[in-house]
Amino acid sequence: MILVTGATGTTGSALVRDLLDRGLEVAAMTRDPARVPARPGLTATTEVVPAEAMYLLPPAARTPPGYEENLLHAAKEAGIGRVVRLSAIGTPDTGHELPPGHLGAWHFRGELALRRSGLEWTVLRPTTFATNSLAWAPDIRAGRPVVNPFGDGKQGVIDPADIAAVAAEVLTGDGHHGRTYTLTGPELITVPEQLAVLADIVGRPIEVLDREPSPELFPPEIAEAATAGARLVRSGGNAIVTPDVEKITSRRPATRPPSERGPRKHGPADDGFRLKRNRFRTSSWWGERSGRASGQLTPPRPSAGAAVCTHRPATTSCS
Ligand SMILES: NC(=O)c1ccc[n+]([C@@H]2O[C@H](COP(=O)([O-])OP(=O)(O)OC[C@H]3O[C@@H](n4cnc5c(N)ncnc54)[C@H](OP(=O)(O)O)[C@@H]3O)[C@@H](O)[C@H]2O)c1
Repeated sequence: MILVTGATGTTGSALVRDLLDRGLEVAAMTRDPARVPARPGLTATTEVVPAEAMYLLPPAARTPPGYEENLLHAAKEAGIGRVVRLSAIGTPDTGHELPPGHLGAWHFRGELALRRSGLEWTVLRPTTFATNSLAWAPDIRAGRPVVNPFGDGKQGVIDPADIAAVAAEVLTGDGHHGRTYTLTGPELITVPEQLAVLADIVGRPIEVLDREPSPELFPPEIAEAATAGARLVRSGGNAIVTPDVEKITSRRPATRPPSERGPRKHGPADDGFRLKRNRFRTSSWWGERSGRASGQLTPPRPSAGAAVCTHRPATTSCS
């Protein structure tokens, strides 16, 4: 049995699919068991249950102090021997000079709690998820410009399915205790380049509105950290590609949307989790908190001096 926390979320749902497709028993932890689809081998749980290993998903800045320590304590009590924690690229290895509210400092504390827990541990530090782009869907559908605080900063954007594939290997295989892996896609890409790919796919232009990073563009609880992160990306500071995904999974991480990639390695993709994602429900911090995915917020209008670029299949023009 593998216990997956955050099982209804971005990486957790992909991990549940991956583990089930490998024929393993999975306990999906959630606050709302009704959100877990019925599948053989899958049970929903609201609490820590006995298992060989646990995937620890810390939901960004949404949990009370002590959440992870309590979870790790419960895991030990339940006889769980191995924990794989999702963290984030750029988390400091030693000390944390970052301010307390910063995501890097928050992940550092969580990693430290895990290292001190006495459990077998592995940390996964992924870069920006490809699924963050789902938050652009309402604007693209409505023909509105997509706001881009990341400029032309390149990133090794990663498909969460590749993070899940690494997690599945590490949860079930040996030789990963005490390791920290930095997970990226195979190539660097900018937001305008991602939008150019999407323009190709939808077959019509997508406008990009370049905006300097500022706190009001992000959810309040991570506004400071996200603004700093966007500045870093913009300046080229997250232009990082690592070989870790391929080393662990023996397959090249994805670059294209699933529809263009052909069949998955393990079994069918059309279960309840996948269907939710196809409706463009995104639980990423950007989509969920901003309300943009449900169209609740008025998108910012172009301000004086802001560059508006239009991506058409095969060409890009800016004014
Ligand atoms: N998005 C990125 O680009 C990116 C990049 C690197 C690292 N990360 C890291 O990935 C993690 C989150 O990723 P995400 O934003 O995509 O979220 P996510 O995995 O979609 O997380 C949502 C999950 O967390 C659970 N959850 C939410 N609030 C909770 C609470 N108060 N208590 C317990 N469980 C709760 C939800 O479970 P239920 O609602 O079912 O209970 C849901 O399954 C963060 O640690 C973030 O720093 C994200």
